[in-house]
Amino acid sequence: MKIKWWKESVFYQIYPKSFYDSNDDGVGDLNGIYQKLDYLTWLGVDVLYLSPIYCSPNDDNGYDISNYHDISPEFGNISDFERLLDAAHEKNLKVILDIAINHTSDEHPWFVASRSSKNHPLRDYYIWRSPKNGEEPNNWASYFSPSAWAFDETTKEYYLHLYSKKQPDLNWENPQVRTDLYAILNFWIEKGVDGFRLDVINAIAKIPGLLDACGKKNLQGKVLNENLIYNHPKVHDYLREMATALKNREEIVLIGETINITVQDAIAYTGPERYELDMVFQFELRDMHYGENGKWDQLPHTPHKIKDIISHWQTNLLNKGWQGLFLGNHDTPRMVSCWGEPKNHWYASATLLATLLFTLQGSSFIYQGDEIGMTNVQFESIDDYQDLDTHFFYTQSLLNQVDLQQIMTSIWRVSRDNARTPMQWSDDLHAGFSTIKPWISVNPNYIDIHVKAQENNPNSILSFYKKVIHIRKKHPVFIEGSFEPIDTKDELFLFMRKDAKQSVAVLLNPTPHTLKFPDFLEQFTQKKCLVHNLAHIHTHKARKTVAPYEAFVYLCK
Ligand code: NOJ
Ligand code: CA
Repeated sequence: MKIKWWKESVFYQIYPKSFYDSNDDGVGDLNGIYQKLDYLTWLGVDVLYLSPIYCSPNDDNGYDISNYHDISPEFGNISDFERLLDAAHEKNLKVILDIAINHTSDEHPWFVASRSSKNHPLRDYYIWRSPKNGEEPNNWASYFSPSAWAFDETTKEYYLHLYSKKQPDLNWENPQVRTDLYAILNFWIEKGVDGFRLDVINAIAKIPGLLDACGKKNLQGKVLNENLIYNHPKVHDYLREMATALKNREEIVLIGETINITVQDAIAYTGPERYELDMVFQFELRDMHYGENGKWDQLPHTPHKIKDIISHWQTNLLNKGWQGLFLGNHDTPRMVSCWGEPKNHWYASATLLATLLFTLQGSSFIYQGDEIGMTNVQFESIDDYQDLDTHFFYTQSLLNQVDLQQIMTSIWRVSRDNARTPMQWSDDLHAGFSTIKPWISVNPNYIDIHVKAQENNPNSILSFYKKVIHIRKKHPVFIEGSFEPIDTKDELFLFMRKDAKQSVAVLLNPTPHTLKFPDFLEQFTQKKCLVHNLAHIHTHKARKTVAPYEAFVYLCK
C-alpha cells in the first residue's frame, strides 16, 4: 500500500507574524512567506504549517478568529494567500492551516448575535448559563483568566471561555454549529489547502452537566482540571462526522492538537480504521516540566524520563496510530533552551535534538528558527512581553506576592514569547526581519545567530538540518520501521529502527557529560555512519567515549 504523503513529509511551522515582514510595517505577512519559499525548499521541507492567518482582534494572536473566510489585513489579503498557495504548490510544497474551532473571537458575528438576546436564533451557538445562586455556573478556571465564565450585562447570563474572555467556546452540541464549521473547512479545502492543524480539538465536547472540577484552586478559588476538559467520548463522534463532511478527505491531512492524551487516546483519534484524525500532537514530554502551578514551575527533566516517555509512545503507537513529532512550537520555550544546553553546547545540543526529531517514527515538525538554533530571550521588563498568557501569569503572581525577580525568571524560562521573537535572517538591524521596529523585539543574539551566517557554513546547525532531512527521506526505515530501545544502563539514548530491508542504530548523548561508548554499538562502527553531528571534530570510528550532546546514526544493514 502506498504510504500516505503526510507520513513521509517534513513539516515546517510558520508563525506568520514573526517570519518575514515584506512591507516594513513591523509585522510578518503572507508576502513575506512568499519571498522566503526558496529558503524553505532549499532546506528540504515538504509542508508549510501556518499558524492562524484569519481576521482576528489578536487578543491571542490569531487564535481568536472573527472571520474564518478572510485574511487578517496585517497579513495581506485573499489574493496574497492564493498567490502564496499556488507558488508553494508549484514548488511541491504543501500548505496546511492552523484553525481554532473550539472557540471564536467574541467579535465574530456569531457571538455578537448570540450575546444580543436570549431569543436570538444564534444564542445557542455558544455555551450560556444563568447564574447559580447568584454565582458563576461552576468553579472552572480558564487558561488565560481567573475564571472560565464571563458575565454578560445585556442578558444577565454567563458564557463559557476555556481560554481568554475574548475566546468564547462554541457549543458543538448544536448541529448547526458543526455544519457551519465543516463548511468553513471546506471553503479552504476548495481553495486548495492540504489540510489543517485543529487547535485544542479534543476540548470541543464538554462534560455533560458541566460538573465542578476538583484540584488545586487558584487565587480566586477556581480550578483548571484538564481531565475534565479534554477527551470526552463525544469528541470522537464529532470527529467522525467531520471526516465524512469534508471534501477531498483522503487527500488532506487532519492534525489534532490534543492535550492530556494517553497512547490509547492517540490510537482512538488516529487509528486508520477510526476515520477521525490522521495524526495528533501529544504533550507528555512537555508535561514533564509541569508542577503544581502548571508550566510555570518548570520541574527539571532527566534523560531517563525522556527516554521512557519517547520509548513508550514509539513502541505502543507503532502500527496503531500516528503522531506529529515536535520539540518546540509557538507555545513553548525554544527547543535548544528547553531540551538542550545553549550556553556551553549550543551547536551540539541543537543538532542532537534535530537527530532525535528526524529519526523517530512520526511526522517531523520544525518550528521556525529552531533550524538555526534560536534561543529563549530575556526581556528586562514585562512591558516588552506581548503574550496574554505571560501577562496573566505576571499579574496573578504579583497578587500572590511572588518576588518580582522570581516571576521574571519563570517568564524567561517559559513565556510563549520566547518562540515568537522575529525570525533571525541576518545581522542587519532587526535581524533582517523588518526595517522598522517589529511588533515584538528581536532577540539581541541575532548578531550571532542568523540564517545568513549559517547557510554557507557546512558545520552550522542549519546545514545539519538540511543534511538530516535528506537522510531521512532517503531511508524509508525512518518512516515505518519498528522502534527498539537498547538499554545502555546509563543516560545514553540508544535505539534501532528496522524494516525488512534496513536497520539503523541511533545513539544520542543528551547530557553535558562524556559517557562510555556502548559495547553493543561497537559491532556497527565500521559500517556506514549516516549522521554524526560532531563529525568535524571527532571520528565516528573506534570510539571509546561519547562526547556531550554527540549524536550518531549508523546504517547497520
Ligand atoms: C492552543 C494554541 O496553540 C495556543 O496558542 C492558543 O492560545 C490556545 N490553543 C487557544 O486557542
Ligand atoms: Ca508586514
